[in-house]
Amino acid sequence: MCGIVGYVGKKNTVEFLLNGLKELEYRGYDSAGIAVLNEKNSDSNIEVYKALGKLVNLEEKTSEAIKNDFNLGIGHTRWATHGKPTELNAHPHLGEYSYVVHNGIIENYKELKDELMQKGHKFVSQTDTEVIVHLFENFNNQLNDPTIAFKKTIENLEGAFSILLISKADPSKIFFFKHGSPLIVAKGKDEGEALFASSDAPLIGLAGDVVYLEDGVGGVVTNGEIEFFSDDYKWSTLPASKQYAQKDGYRFFMEKEIHEQSTVVVDTMMGRIKDNAINFDEIDESIIEGINEIKICACGTSYHAGLTASYLFERLSKVKCNVEIASEFRYKEPLLTKDTLFIVISQSGETADTLEALKMAKEAGLKTLVVCNVDNSSMTRTADFSILTRAGIEKGVASTKAFTTQTVVLWMLALYFAKAKNTISENKMQEELHALREVPKSLVVYDFIHEKCKRLSKRYLHGHGFFFIGRDVFYPLALEGALKLKEISYLHAEGYPAGEMKHGPIALADPELFTIALMPENLLYDKIKSNVEELSARDSTICTISPIPFELSDDYIRTNKFDHYMLEFFEMLVAVQLLSMEISVRLGNDVDMPRNLAKSVTVE
Ligand code: AGP
Ligand code: GLU
Repeated sequence: MCGIVGYVGKKNTVEFLLNGLKELEYRGYDSAGIAVLNEKNSDSNIEVYKALGKLVNLEEKTSEAIKNDFNLGIGHTRWATHGKPTELNAHPHLGEYSYVVHNGIIENYKELKDELMQKGHKFVSQTDTEVIVHLFENFNNQLNDPTIAFKKTIENLEGAFSILLISKADPSKIFFFKHGSPLIVAKGKDEGEALFASSDAPLIGLAGDVVYLEDGVGGVVTNGEIEFFSDDYKWSTLPASKQYAQKDGYRFFMEKEIHEQSTVVVDTMMGRIKDNAINFDEIDESIIEGINEIKICACGTSYHAGLTASYLFERLSKVKCNVEIASEFRYKEPLLTKDTLFIVISQSGETADTLEALKMAKEAGLKTLVVCNVDNSSMTRTADFSILTRAGIEKGVASTKAFTTQTVVLWMLALYFAKAKNTISENKMQEELHALREVPKSLVVYDFIHEKCKRLSKRYLHGHGFFFIGRDVFYPLALEGALKLKEISYLHAEGYPAGEMKHGPIALADPELFTIALMPENLLYDKIKSNVEELSARDSTICTISPIPFELSDDYIRTNKFDHYMLEFFEMLVAVQLLSMEISVRLGNDVDMPRNLAKSVTVE
């Protein structure tokens, strides 16, 4: 997690760092900090500003500094892994005369810290990061050569670390290294200018050529000249214009992104439903040749899209499909066979666990495909094939349109495989394509549904828990509904297969247990109805989401009638997103940047 920026050049350094951090803030917002200097000043004083919480706090603290003539600096916005979110634990971290910003986790920090403390180094924070700067100074004190000291520091670190380091020992330099977490180095547009950022957003419009650093690659910038320690780098160009995300009159990015779903899916499908068939320019039918199994790996909401897809792959393409949470997959010594197509799903393309799972599959010689929202991300650069979801930039930490577009891509992919493997009749294919074309309608935010969610939200601000229940693809949707609610309301919620409640969780049923039942008309309606009846008989408070009114509901969110269960799926998705958002609003929470979370999880 976290965002890193760095700058050397003639422009306003503080301004670049703050603007860059603003772009990266969604990646982590526990604290932020910058360290800046003017290397031409003989005493080369490094000035440091840190502030707890959101970036505006740092902006306030640096309002005077912005006028000063700094020409080199590094900045960081933090998502704490080691040590509480406090100002002391905020980056940049200081030794005696050097500063570092770091994204990732130093796994051997305890051993290193003990050793360094024995040698007299004084630590002030609880972070893992602080060892980096002390280790560097330890080597530099012995060698009096910052570049060698930096290389030796890197050699001694274990874990994930993208780093920028500056030091009074040579104030003309920024040292950099990438391992695990993303980092980009760029030439500026002016002579002697170099820029760094964790993603390309802060660089667009300001930088010339860039290097998306690969793992294990580092170097040093001296007076704006970029030098790499090895040859494993490739210059490339940035996208021409930045995708600005604005709230456009909505209260929150999440709200805007919920509303955008019905239009972005048009982009997702554009050019991909052609001549009454599914077409992906990015792949051809050979991708499924010799494949007997699909394995999907992902985290969080993307995992829910994967789980939804597993029903569709088996039902439509008749390929065995299993789905795993990437952090579990990595260490279970999984059996990987070459007749398996390995699919990872990720909005950001940077999630550390998913990326590692992808690398494992690639190393084992499997065909790999990523369904991703960010081109040029670590995953699209690693996988054999990429299909972009085209959701546009998603700012709300609680994912909405990313999930929708992933699910649409995966549904289309299931149909694509079905055609290639001849497992679907022409009639059925046309029915499915017809339904796909209706998806934008099913995602419209209807006022009557939004109003209902707003009104209902006041009744769901307490209680000892929520159970979202559903069957078939509505089970992953239940998981997604519960995750949304947890993330932004901080209330306890679980997603459960409706038929599984009787095997334990029903023991919790009482009026303070809120059941949100997803009851589609076109899929297993009678089955889920029985499950809801069982809960109602135990006095659970029931809110049903369905096109059909149900006499046992305490609350009812009426959805429109559709003739395909996937269209009901998308409409109910919007309803659970809105309900979570309105509950969060009533509780006074930060909808877009909920506590303890970050948008891009680049640590394990
Ligand atoms: C969703 O609302 C989340 N904040 C989170 O679960 C997210 O989906 C997960 O971290 C995976 O991210 P990715 O899609 O970028 O890989
Ligand atoms: N592990 C470091 C910390 O807790 C860096 C976390 C991050 O990537 O923001 O400060």
